[in-house]
Amino acid sequence: MRIGILTGGGDCPGLNAVIRAVVRKATASGDEVVGFRDGWRGLLEDDAVPLDLAAVRGLLPRGGTVLGTSRTNPYALEGGPERVLGCLAAHGIDALVPVGGEDTLGVAAKLADSGAGVRVVGVPKTIDNDLDGTDYTFGFDTAVGVAMEAIDRLHTTGDSHHRTLVVEVMGRHAGWIALHAGMAGGANVVLVPERPFDVDAVVAHCLHRFESGYSPIVVVSEGARPADGELVTSTGQTDAFGHVRLGGIGAALAAVLEERTGRESRAVVLGHVQRGGTPSAFDRVLATRFGLAAVDAVQAGLSGVMVALRGTDVVPVPIAEATARLKLVPLERYAEAEVFFG
Ligand code: F6P
Repeated sequence: MRIGILTGGGDCPGLNAVIRAVVRKATASGDEVVGFRDGWRGLLEDDAVPLDLAAVRGLLPRGGTVLGTSRTNPYALEGGPERVLGCLAAHGIDALVPVGGEDTLGVAAKLADSGAGVRVVGVPKTIDNDLDGTDYTFGFDTAVGVAMEAIDRLHTTGDSHHRTLVVEVMGRHAGWIALHAGMAGGANVVLVPERPFDVDAVVAHCLHRFESGYSPIVVVSEGARPADGELVTSTGQTDAFGHVRLGGIGAALAAVLEERTGRESRAVVLGHVQRGGTPSAFDRVLATRFGLAAVDAVQAGLSGVMVALRGTDVVPVPIAEATARLKLVPLERYAEAEVFFG
């Protein structure tokens, strides 16, 4: 069998561990693996590379993706799906393993439904952890670790200068990174996309923190917005899947808090630092298990599925189910956790 693999969407620590696991498992059973560069672009433009054991040596701790990635959407291009199928046929690909988030897997679901005869088995990835159908995606744990360490460090400098520090983290639709990093780092306010926040309440919370002798740490997801305001975007541009580029809520909020509390406020944007670098042990293990399970699924003749973590098991689930809706933070679950969501 010839198995194709691609990595699409935003990069994520653990992508290389998936590639490595897929190649090792497939090679051990006599199958061949072909990598397509930069997500769906590699299939549109026939940019392929054979992947053997030598190609994946040393990949486990390496961040990013050796295959490259892009936000290319073949279904947004005239003749795109036909070009993808033509390229798969030209390379004699029997099964494709797209590794990605809601967008990449959305394309995978359409491809699986197209009746083209190529098996499609998706692997879920996103630092945002917002894919339904799987309890966790790899990359999330690493991103939370980076953000938690930043919050730990910000406590000491914030307290020394008696100023508010607003930490902007990634999270377009879901506030999982803000929530977990905020809880782990002991942040005072956690603002998430799921609940538009009340600026007055955030101001009151910050003042209360100052009154207790400490400086507030406010963690805000890039996709959070005030109840009476709009999403803050860094440019008006959208990508091939229609997503606008977010960024700037941290600075906007810090300015408001400075004015309203009378205390100096600064914003820190963690940005792509959360996505770069070596994966945590948890993410290496999850990514490896996903890669192995994807090859198992392909070899079992499955298609139109995504491998998913359910409890402690990795199981195949319908890919359409996983992409039908996003997994948002259920705020009521954290009611007892002393998290102030604004
Ligand atoms: O992968 C999802 C994500 O991390 C979002 O939280 C964020 O909006 C987006 O990626 C930013 O990605 P890029 O800067 O690559 O467009």
